[in-house]
Amino acid sequence: MIPPKPPARPEKVSLLKYVRLFRQDILSAQPAKLYRAWMAEFKTPFFRSYLINQPSLVKTVLNERPRAFPKSDRIGAGLRPLLGNSVFLTNGETWERQRRIIDPAFEGGRLRDTFPAMWDAGQAAVARLDEGVHEVEEITSFAAADVIFRTLFSIPIEDEIAQAVFSEFRDYQRTQPILNLAAFIKGPKWMPRLFRKRTRETAQSIRTLITQLTSARMAQIGAGTAPDDLATKIMTTADPETGDTFTTEEMVDQVAIFFLAGHETSASALAWTLYLLALFPEWQDKLAAEAKALDGGCDFKMMSKLRASRDVFREALRLYPPVPMMVRETTCPETFRDRDIKTGAQVVISPWHLHRHERLWDNPDGFDPARWTTENGKQCMREAYIPFSSGPRVCTGAGFAMVEGPLLLSMLVRHFRFETTDRSPVPVAHLTVRSKDGIWLKLTKRAHDA
Ligand code: HEM
Repeated sequence: MIPPKPPARPEKVSLLKYVRLFRQDILSAQPAKLYRAWMAEFKTPFFRSYLINQPSLVKTVLNERPRAFPKSDRIGAGLRPLLGNSVFLTNGETWERQRRIIDPAFEGGRLRDTFPAMWDAGQAAVARLDEGVHEVEEITSFAAADVIFRTLFSIPIEDEIAQAVFSEFRDYQRTQPILNLAAFIKGPKWMPRLFRKRTRETAQSIRTLITQLTSARMAQIGAGTAPDDLATKIMTTADPETGDTFTTEEMVDQVAIFFLAGHETSASALAWTLYLLALFPEWQDKLAAEAKALDGGCDFKMMSKLRASRDVFREALRLYPPVPMMVRETTCPETFRDRDIKTGAQVVISPWHLHRHERLWDNPDGFDPARWTTENGKQCMREAYIPFSSGPRVCTGAGFAMVEGPLLLSMLVRHFRFETTDRSPVPVAHLTVRSKDGIWLKLTKRAHDA
């Protein structure tokens, strides 16, 4: 059985139709040949872009010469009202300084300290669940937002400000189609003006709420009463090169991206993984049996026992990478596969296509968590698997997400059985890969000694 894959578009379509398809969903707007091609060129009167699918080219852009391929200014235009000058959007020295301050908070050792907060969020998620048919993206969004608030600010999602950020963010997401388009097309400079007034207003109100949290924390740090969580760690870390720490304003930008990048992505990954587990109950039973390791209580060491959970989560990130495409810009003339590429061209890297490339992967569209122990799986993991990107701009939260994902999955399947219903999800890509009409699953409690 092949898990859901969006239909490809016909090979030839008019520009207008392409733009329309793009607005609906960037995955089904692409032709099927991208699953076989090493590179594809998109020519339009307004912009030229190149999708690269060849592992060595992806490596050049992300790992070997990342400075030559920065993020385009305009790509972030749609997100700037919310994210300001956050690490996700900056380039050059500003970005380097921000990473020097942020990275220590996400190092391996700190993950161990963050673990109890993730554990509490997982327990709360299980406690909220009921039997019956549910839309699981809703459940995983709430749980992933809870993880972020607990690990960052030591507050649960039930906190008044946390609740407000979460619900305002839902509004912000409703303006996605436009953001989506803006993210991929190198539009004119005035493009940001197209963003709806409502988008800007919602962004502003989210930022006001985050400012309240951040200012309160600044005061607690000053008074020596701050809890030892990610926010305190980041706000008290000095840049080793200049000795500066983040100002409140700068921290607001970073908190906004941690919230957006940290909860949207994990929520998408967890929801798709639950769907895959419902489609493949033998794997779900394996995870449930393995999850007995959780019964000993909160202990970071148990993560090494949740191997099947990790392999399944990895496989879900391969089939449904939450960030389906990333865009960079050339800063000098380049030659890719003997083609001359001009300065200022868009370079699209598509984890979605790379992860299902027919010339690289065995059984590219199939669900096979055991593949990671095969030669092909190991080689592809090194060369064609980038759910968190790669190189210096790799996701700051990759290690965090690889603890959060398997842990929450194991906790959920330890207590509940997830089964498919008559609704099959259709993947579409907005800010992250989601299902067109949600992911509906039937939940029943598992007998505890099962
Ligand atoms: C399954 C979960 C996640 C996935 C698949 C994911 C994926 C990604 C990807 C692909 C990028 C690079 C985007 C680009 O270069 O255009 C990225 C960047 C980033 N992610 Fe994640 N992410 C996840 C979870 C998290 C979490 C939990 C956090 C923080 C708590 C986080 C924080 C960030 C930040 C700050 C960046 C920007 C890094 C930079 O540009 O230097 N992410 N993520």
